[in-house]
Amino acid sequence: MNRPGFQPSVVWLTLSTVPALPRFLRMLVPRFFFARLVPLIGLCLLAGCGGSTMSTFEGHSDLTKEILDIYGVIFWIDLALFLLVQGILIVAVVKFRATGKETTLPEQVHGNLPMEIGWTVAPVVLLVIITVPTVSLIFESQAQAKDDALVVNAVGKQWWFQFGYPEYDFETANEMHVPLGRQVDVRLQSDNVIHAFWAPQIAAKRDMMPGRVNHITFTADKVGEYMGQCAEYCADSHALMKFRIFVDTAEDFDKWAKHQASAQAEPVAASAGFQAFQGATCVACHAIEGTSSQSRIGPDLTHVGSRGLIASGILENNEANLRLWLKDPAAIKPGSKMPNLNLTDEQINTIVPFLSSLK
Ligand code: CUA
Repeated sequence: MNRPGFQPSVVWLTLSTVPALPRFLRMLVPRFFFARLVPLIGLCLLAGCGGSTMSTFEGHSDLTKEILDIYGVIFWIDLALFLLVQGILIVAVVKFRATGKETTLPEQVHGNLPMEIGWTVAPVVLLVIITVPTVSLIFESQAQAKDDALVVNAVGKQWWFQFGYPEYDFETANEMHVPLGRQVDVRLQSDNVIHAFWAPQIAAKRDMMPGRVNHITFTADKVGEYMGQCAEYCADSHALMKFRIFVDTAEDFDKWAKHQASAQAEPVAASAGFQAFQGATCVACHAIEGTSSQSRIGPDLTHVGSRGLIASGILENNEANLRLWLKDPAAIKPGSKMPNLNLTDEQINTIVPFLSSLK
């Protein structure tokens, strides 16, 4: 009796293909190798190219340089071990290979106490060499910051980063500026799920946990723009949760911070753009200092026009992209907490230039 779903003809069909299997595999392997594997390996290698500023092999702060030093130690130890083990293997294979002329079994060995002690003690020593600097750097990276360190309150949101500067009393989003040569104490927090603050060239990586404050302290040593990205899966738009760290000279940083801390001037609140902004209920979630818009659910927009990118670092900040964003945020960032407000073209035409003007 045939059980449902069981057909003898299927078994026959399967077995009948067995003789053709080696030929099939021969066909498949080169095809798979050249059509899939080679491009895949190429893509993996290319992923590290493109002038990316996320390479861990180029540190631009005391913290990332010390991490790189530990990588270096581990790499050279690993390389030496690899060469040693593979070398012994090759010598053994060549020297002790069968010649076909053997008449007796080679000498049979059971146990070797000095060797067993050796390969137990050596890994322990290696692990100590790796562990001691690693663990001490972990503690060092979250040690009490210096008294004159710049405090930045970094809060992971779904899906953007809020950066608050208590010393200057302002908040901004997705673009964090820090001064060259001055220690920065980033206080990592979240008011929702777990995120991770990851800027490999400047600030390494640490989780942003709800209900606690994690610290990461570093001193940047090269002026520039560095990429960051959330590195802990946090639902829909995790992959689109990016940020940038700008290392400025002390003078440029101070100028930037003072500008960010300034409110918009009186005429902004009276402008047609602000009226449209208010009419479209944007005020329910966003703050523009100097106006009645004071909510802090979404990013602070006081100086949104001065930011290089919007939508947490995925779109260039220009009028065309702002228009796309306002039209349907979730189309750009899946799961976006900013709802589609079904704005009319007229509302968008008024709000977009207004936002761009908030330099
Ligand atoms: Cu935030 Cu992933």
